[in-house]
Amino acid sequence: MKKNILKVAISSAIVAASLNVKAAESVEVLHWWTSGGEASALDILRAGLQEKGIGWQDMPVAGGGGSQATTVLRARVTGNNPPTAAQMLGYDVLDWGKIDGAVANLNDIAAQENWDELVPEALQFFSKYEGNWIAAPVNVHSSNWIWINKEQFEKVNGKIPTNWDELVGLLDAFKAAGITPLAHGGQAWQEVVIFDSIILSLGKDFYRSAMIDLDPAAIKSPKMLEAFKRMGTLRKYVDDNFSGRDWNLASAMVIEGKAGMQIQGDWAKGEFVNAGKVPDEDFICIRYPGTEGSTVFLADQFVMFEVDESKKNAQKEMAKGIMGLEFQSAFNVAKGSAPARMDVPDSAFDSCGKKAIADLKASNASGSMFGSIAHGHAVPSIVKGAIYDVVTAHFNGEYTAAEAVEELAVAIDSTR
Ligand code: BGC
Repeated sequence: MKKNILKVAISSAIVAASLNVKAAESVEVLHWWTSGGEASALDILRAGLQEKGIGWQDMPVAGGGGSQATTVLRARVTGNNPPTAAQMLGYDVLDWGKIDGAVANLNDIAAQENWDELVPEALQFFSKYEGNWIAAPVNVHSSNWIWINKEQFEKVNGKIPTNWDELVGLLDAFKAAGITPLAHGGQAWQEVVIFDSIILSLGKDFYRSAMIDLDPAAIKSPKMLEAFKRMGTLRKYVDDNFSGRDWNLASAMVIEGKAGMQIQGDWAKGEFVNAGKVPDEDFICIRYPGTEGSTVFLADQFVMFEVDESKKNAQKEMAKGIMGLEFQSAFNVAKGSAPARMDVPDSAFDSCGKKAIADLKASNASGSMFGSIAHGHAVPSIVKGAIYDVVTAHFNGEYTAAEAVEELAVAIDSTR
């Protein structure tokens, strides 16, 4: 009798242990998606994994595009305790690829799921290191957008701006109506988001030669002077409390009608939608004047790290899940971005999302997709840092436009 009880006890312990193994499967994910819109998009990824019995250990590092996630990541990898996956942008992905043994090789899943065919080459450039897939791109965002409060726009009899003068005209109209014309979060990365658009609006060749090829003549050209002058003009339309403000709080100003517009990437749309706002009814999305037809793109990638054998299955499921057709639709509807694979129908997307997808396709076909300066898709991180320093110092009144051009040339030179 006793023997039997013991047997039952042992076998249920074995069953419990095997269930535990299943339940213990989880992914640990480092990211900076801490705003309301971002969190609701991330929940879709989390829920998809949960359905497969995979748990989620969250490692959020707030701070938007300027977050210190890389510093946190470095400490974890150096301590031989990497997370399963980390959100990353552009050249930072390639920097991690260079570190021996740090990142996982996703070639098997990529081949099985046909990533080579589905993902645009401009993104693959940042998902692969030396030809090997090391990251799964979850979206394509673009930064050359303006988000306008529709009620305020109508109140001032606004006209959709199609060039710089009309943009300034609309800002003036908001000012005259007594609302903050431009909602802005005074953090270096957000200033460079505006810079992305201004540079592109001064010409595609200028964007390419100054900010991708880093041609010294373009960097010191009259167009660069004009770019800084325009940054200075926009500075006059922000409120007194802009300094240090998070991007989503600036979005909230537009959502609530306290400000007329925000120049920000399409993660801002995630905030509007999360607040129950509807495009064309409550807000208007337009491309920054002068950049219509082109996209300043960036893709959030989840770089997969070399983890313990016991964690590899969950990691594979996460990579596979990220690239799933249905997931890419649902996630990007919530996130405000376009899917990272080109075969996702736009049927579930709202009008701004449909425009994002169409713009991406057209700009991809016409060679008018430009990597974002602000988000490390134009130049490697050291150059990006040099640009951040000068743009933000100028925006905060440390340099005149002419001095900023000089400083920019020196700062970029010092990284060569
Ligand atoms: C990321 C977006 C994110 C935004 C604000 C950008 O760097 O690419 O996914 O929503 O920062 O946090």
